[in-house]
Amino acid sequence: MQGDKQDIKTDEDIVLMVDSFYAKVNRDDLLSYVFNDFSKVDWDKHLPKMYSFWNTLIFGEQSYKGNPFAAHLHLPVEQRHFERWLNPFNENIDKLFEGAVAEHTKLRAKSIAYIFQSKLEFLNQKK
Ligand code: HEM
Repeated sequence: MQGDKQDIKTDEDIVLMVDSFYAKVNRDDLLSYVFNDFSKVDWDKHLPKMYSFWNTLIFGEQSYKGNPFAAHLHLPVEQRHFERWLNPFNENIDKLFEGAVAEHTKLRAKSIAYIFQSKLEFLNQKK
């Protein structure tokens, strides 16, 4: 059955995707600890950064310039955190959107989470 959901198409869609995802993160004890207690993230800065990150990845806008992996190097995160991150990310997209871009976005998140996690595991082994 075809629902009435649309694909991710506009900058506003990205804002909605990011805001609602981090609202979920903030309700998750395991993840909220890392963002709010450990990193004391300034959400007014982090959310716009994530809008431009996803804009760059999805629409090729090139507004995000940064080193996303470096931001995670010193975080107390392991495999279970990445799984915890990916589940609400995917659920959130499925709830709001439907289409090729939505599928591509979930795939990108999964690939990046996999790369982050394997790099962290590898680097921590050498310590
Ligand atoms: C274990 C799961 C994750 C946790 C706990 C986590 C946590 C964080 C934290 C605490 C920051 C720093 C925010 C700040 O101080 O401003 C950050 C930045 C960031 N994260 Fe994650 N993250 C996770 C997974 C991911 C994944 C899978 C992606 C990509 C799909 C991602 C993309 C980013 C980006 C782009 C930044 C901004 C980096 C910059 O400063 O340029 N994160 N994350």
